[in-house]
Amino acid sequence: MNVIELVGVTKRYQMGEEVVEALKGVDFHAEPGEMVVVIGPSGSGKSTMLNMIGLLDTPTEGTVLHRGHDVSDLTEDELTEERRSGIGFVFQAFHLLPVLDAVENVELPSMWDTDVDRHDRAISLLERVGLGDRLDHTPTELSGGQRQRVAIARALINEPHIVLADEPTGNLDRETARNILDMFTQLKTEEDVAIVAVTHDELFREFADRTVSLVDGRIR
Ligand SMILES: Nc1ncnc2c1ncn2[C@@H]1O[C@H](COP(=O)(O)OP(=O)(O)OP(=O)(O)O)[C@@H](O)[C@H]1O
Ligand SMILES: [Mg+2]
Repeated sequence: MNVIELVGVTKRYQMGEEVVEALKGVDFHAEPGEMVVVIGPSGSGKSTMLNMIGLLDTPTEGTVLHRGHDVSDLTEDELTEERRSGIGFVFQAFHLLPVLDAVENVELPSMWDTDVDRHDRAISLLERVGLGDRLDHTPTELSGGQRQRVAIARALINEPHIVLADEPTGNLDRETARNILDMFTQLKTEEDVAIVAVTHDELFREFADRTVSLVDGRIR
């Protein structure tokens, strides 16, 4: 079954008199253990598309399905729960909290859990992304690539069925970018998680199971 599916998704923003159509009838899907890369130029609608998949925004037209269920049938609480437990987010700017160390940052999305294992899971995820020797470092005490690895570990803490990444290598050098993409490749197999990454970086093609192009709000 598809982990996520978009069917005929259109997104329009009203900007005063003008209407911006950011997505124009997008069909898309991702399966477990698959890394799908959406490549497109700036302004093509990549972040808008990821926001629809991540339940951070709703389409003007069309349907978003998570694990076969139309999400427009979900209540606000159910949407929150689906976002929290089902989806891991990795953003270019990391969104790590500066006052927390690596372990605490990874634990953060699972703070609601009464599950006492989360501390151990955070440590084991950091070891998996090669940061076992940086557990008590805060973000400013880490390099850009290391911060991104903390963000990836954090995205996995709630054992999501999908990880969404918006320009995850945007401000990293080529070698570090490859390193991050290798990590995604390894994790998708081990965790059987679907990864959807949006980028303008052609390097992603090498690592993707499937690449789709987004141009002016349309999948090509
Ligand atoms: N909240 C909003 N209100 C109005 N217009 C918006 C809004 N968000 C995005 N847009 C417009 O929708 C289009 C797509 O934007 P989006 O951020 O999805 O592009 P992108 O492909 O992620 O670009 P980039 O690579 O620069 O991040 C752009 O023309 C943008 O100006
Ligand atoms: Mg964007």
